Amino acid sequence: MSADSGIRALARTWGPGAIIEGAGELAPFASDNKISGAPPLAVVRPATVEQVVELVHACRAGRVALIPRGAGTGTVGGAVPESPAVVLDTARMDRILEIDPGDRIARVEPGVVTERFQKEVERHGLMYPPDPASADRCTLGGNAATNAGGLRAVKYGVTGEYVMGLVVVTGEGEVLKTGYRTRKGVVGYDLTHLFVGSEGTLGIIVELTLRLVRRPPARRVMTASFRDLAHCARGVRAVLDADAAPCAIELVDAACVEAVEKLGKVVSIQGPYLLIEVDGCADEVERGIVEIDGLLKGLGAAMRTAADDAEAKALWDARRAISDALKDAAPKKMAEDVTVPISKLVALLEGVRDLAGPLGLATVSYGHAGDGNLHVNALYDPAEPGATERVAAFREALFDLTLRLGGTMSGEHGVGIAKRLFIGKELSPASLELHRRIKRALDPDNILNPGKIWPA
Ligand code: MLT
Ligand code: ZN
Repeated sequence: MSADSGIRALARTWGPGAIIEGAGELAPFASDNKISGAPPLAVVRPATVEQVVELVHACRAGRVALIPRGAGTGTVGGAVPESPAVVLDTARMDRILEIDPGDRIARVEPGVVTERFQKEVERHGLMYPPDPASADRCTLGGNAATNAGGLRAVKYGVTGEYVMGLVVVTGEGEVLKTGYRTRKGVVGYDLTHLFVGSEGTLGIIVELTLRLVRRPPARRVMTASFRDLAHCARGVRAVLDADAAPCAIELVDAACVEAVEKLGKVVSIQGPYLLIEVDGCADEVERGIVEIDGLLKGLGAAMRTAADDAEAKALWDARRAISDALKDAAPKKMAEDVTVPISKLVALLEGVRDLAGPLGLATVSYGHAGDGNLHVNALYDPAEPGATERVAAFREALFDLTLRLGGTMSGEHGVGIAKRLFIGKELSPASLELHRRIKRALDPDNILNPGKIWPA
């Protein structure tokens, strides 16, 4: 029996729904939200930790690559097979195991959809702050594996800041428990945060212990539209220096408005704008709104505060739709998530303009400006002679510029397949060698997501 038929036979013993094998059904697992690879040999869906362990042992014995996958909403190919591989889909490990309002923690399985968890937690008067734009589809396990950022990071931080502990199955099939149920804990290395952001290369996350916070009783959303992106960036600086500490400061380029309005999400805002949300106690929120309104009017912005929850939701829906809307705006888009120190945001935006202009490229930027994290997109038609090469040149120059400004090539999407050829620009040879040694310690046979993050 070949190795993969042994794995299929194993998964069939787990009951209905545990394996996907039909060519048509496997096709969607060949890609994520941006990168296409090859369809897997099979998709298996364990429902228990024991089944994950059995699967890892079977893959190890047969030397079959195993690729953990949440909802496939990533954009760098982290969960995409390239050569023969089995995909481990966490869809059947989707239980919220515990919500403890007293200790403000929760335990969940990796396949829980982020928005479902956020809503469940809210019923207890609590909040789970990490809020990726794809929260209605992405999973908590995938968020931890990529250390996902999202729309509220400027105040609350990224996923890793809410992961207190994990249960992980390593590439040797060991079940490893990391971290704490306590707010503090310094016994041994911080193994939890070694796995957070490791893109499925070191272990399979089978359980997460997550930190929760009190749900702020009030929130208001406002927009500030400016005459150009540079003025928007100055507005970001002003808001960050204000007493109000907004939970979101997102930048939206004018071309994004056009793209989302084509999807029927009308925002009726002229020019590039900032989308700002302030949360907290009601009086604190009102003070914050008044302060920011005054500050940004002083910088020439046209201000609007959402009148009610419906208007606020419409503004957020439009923001969350940008990534997909830009896909429809051109035959192809290059989309990156470079991040610079906040003091360099204007320099980044000016640099993007200066790099793209001579190459004749149309760029659109949006994203988590309050974090210095921009989604820089180039929209193009690969059928146009030279376009692919010009975009490739722009992309590499964008990474170089970002690094020169003291930033990082990826603030939230990770490396996966998409950026692995460039990793030596950001990590030193000594750092890369340490990465390889850590990988060998946890996955000696290179079973887990081989070839991701750095070239094989
Ligand atoms: C966003 O902030 O909208 C996403 O990170 C972009 C994306 O998924 O491409
Ligand atoms: Zn983003």
